[in-house]
Amino acid sequence: MSIILPSRTSSLSRLNRSLSGKQFDNARFFILVDENTYNNCLAHLVSHVERLQEAEFLEVPVGEECKDMAIAQQLWDTLLESGADRQTVLVNLGGGCVSDLGGFVAAGYKRGIRYINIPTTLIGMIDAAIGGKTAVNVGNSKNQVGFFHQPTITCIEPSFLNTLPDEEMFNGTFEMLKTFMIGDPDRYRELCNMILGGNLDIQPDMIAACADIKNAVVKKDPNDNNIRHILNLGHTFGHAIESFSHQPNQNPLGHGLAVGAGLICALYLSVEKLGLPQDCLDQYRAVAKKFMPIPHYSLQDTETLLSFMRNDKKATIDEDRNTIINCVLLQQIGAPVIDLPISENEIRQALLRMD
Ligand code: GLY
Repeated sequence: MSIILPSRTSSLSRLNRSLSGKQFDNARFFILVDENTYNNCLAHLVSHVERLQEAEFLEVPVGEECKDMAIAQQLWDTLLESGADRQTVLVNLGGGCVSDLGGFVAAGYKRGIRYINIPTTLIGMIDAAIGGKTAVNVGNSKNQVGFFHQPTITCIEPSFLNTLPDEEMFNGTFEMLKTFMIGDPDRYRELCNMILGGNLDIQPDMIAACADIKNAVVKKDPNDNNIRHILNLGHTFGHAIESFSHQPNQNPLGHGLAVGAGLICALYLSVEKLGLPQDCLDQYRAVAKKFMPIPHYSLQDTETLLSFMRNDKKATIDEDRNTIINCVLLQQIGAPVIDLPISENEIRQALLRMD
């Protein structure tokens, strides 16, 4: 897999050069878009990448709705009807939902064709489009069926972010804070200081540094058996907080904001269990408050949140059939510890002390 990171020369012109290379001689390109990327990004892409001017395009619904087996089936039908062969390359132009679905379709079609991710959201650029996790949802459960299938190229072009609403940028900024928390203490401090000083403008060099960390972790453990778990810092809590927020009468949170809230719980437990300095938690809480009111949960809410956490893909069952909830915590900024079993009482405490 190769990754085209933001640098002084435009990423799309480097993609253009790659697609003119021998390995794509016989390729036929299909571009997967949703309504947003069809309207805001497709013309820009094809005007800069010659080989894609002859591509056919496929459109799917915006958001999680597209990560559906029936939609994957329709895409396979369309590819078959169009005579797409094993030289076909699927180009996923969109956020994490488009790249998860497109990667899934590419992984299954004729037992695996190549695909290229061109992320258009910040979360896509620093996380979802890198690493080959592909999936569709089953009912309300996210990412339950999928494959590890690495993209041939991930091309990160920051100018696509100009089309993004603030909320989407905030979602991505929390994933960026998480990645620097596990992998680059200096960048983490720099980003915190920026945000605390009121500057929320994410620069291409930050995106490149963050994508690089994710890529390096994936290279060490592509199938997510051990070290890749560090990328889940804040996610065990974050997934539950996200599901909770989508219940009736709650304030729905995007994935990044929910992870941002989950990071408070992870840092709280890191202070309690691993001796992370309290300052780190206090500073992070102040950063998170710049983007959202910190959720406040009652004891009753924590029971619902715990029930979501017991269903987490990464929870395990011990020999007495008790659910073990495993978390990533931090000894220091830049020093994550994976797979720490956390008791239900510790989880309740962390959730009750978020704000
Ligand atoms: N988003 C976490 C991972 O790719 O492993």
